[in-house]
Amino acid sequence: MKDIKKIGVLTSGGDAPGMNAAVRAVVRSCVFNKIECFGVYKGFQGLIDNNIKSMNARSVNNIINKGGTILKTARCKDFYKEEVRKKAYKSLKENGIDALVIIGGDGSFTASIIINKEFGVPIIGIPGTIDNDILGTSFTIGYDTALNTVIESIDKIRDTAISHNRLFFVEVMGRDAGHIALNAGIGAGAEEILIPEEDMGLDRLIESLKRSEKSGKSSSIVMVAEGDKTGKNVFEIASYVENNMPTYEVRVSVLGHMQRGGSPTCFDRVLASRMGVYAVESLLNGSSNVMVGIKDDRMILSPLVDAIKGQTEINKDLIRVSEILSI
Ligand code: F6P
Repeated sequence: MKDIKKIGVLTSGGDAPGMNAAVRAVVRSCVFNKIECFGVYKGFQGLIDNNIKSMNARSVNNIINKGGTILKTARCKDFYKEEVRKKAYKSLKENGIDALVIIGGDGSFTASIIINKEFGVPIIGIPGTIDNDILGTSFTIGYDTALNTVIESIDKIRDTAISHNRLFFVEVMGRDAGHIALNAGIGAGAEEILIPEEDMGLDRLIESLKRSEKSGKSSSIVMVAEGDKTGKNVFEIASYVENNMPTYEVRVSVLGHMQRGGSPTCFDRVLASRMGVYAVESLLNGSSNVMVGIKDDRMILSPLVDAIKGQTEINKDLIRVSEILSI
């Protein structure tokens, strides 16, 4: 095994709060272990364009509290072209980078596996996405902050819902996973939570809302995961309900990218710091092609191929809790 002397770090895919804390942890762990660290800018595009800069402990001052990523990020479709990847490898060689830490989601890990296979560069992944949809970890960096952003927004929407006796449909992010919707839905006291993993169907939704109305509720919040399949989209679901429940004044609120921004929570900062340190230590101990994760409050490693294998599972107990509490 070749000694690792220079490590590159990049953020890729959608930004997530806590990515900066992870970059900081990677850079400072490298310095601590007397390894040179290079920041690759704009994700995999930075490898292609040789947009790479040497970093030291001071390059990551005052970023632990910042959302977004100082390294910038991108979803780089070009990386799937072989001739483009050769340019990326050239940049790695020119800078003498022996190993990479990739902070991102499943798309980023798919690209990482290809780099490792084609060029033999050791790679460790750190899961950074608000969606919490990566296998091999209980939590991804950014998820906790997104949950807190969502419940704060819904608390505000609830003021209007109550004052106007309105029924609000709130769409949250999560791509094909319902983790944000389910957890933030319980945290914000939503009456119904629609997630891709459980198809409730429009008729059951109407029944349930009618029951709530009968029991004296005059306003309600329905949480809709963006990947939910109950209707074509949240607007279609809302208009179906409005047509069937004319007593309610219906509104739709799509929270959108505000869920990805903002200062990371303490949970995300600590998670990112631990993952960054563990990623560098694991590379130096000879691990490669694995992702750092957290399970039962302990750092673990799992093969990158497993991390992108399929859908994460929804905690069914949360569905039960939500049903009990929304009477
Ligand atoms: O993966 C994070 C995420 O915010 C998803 O929740 C969402 O589906 C997607 O990214 C949005 O991507 P973009 O910012 O490219 O529109």
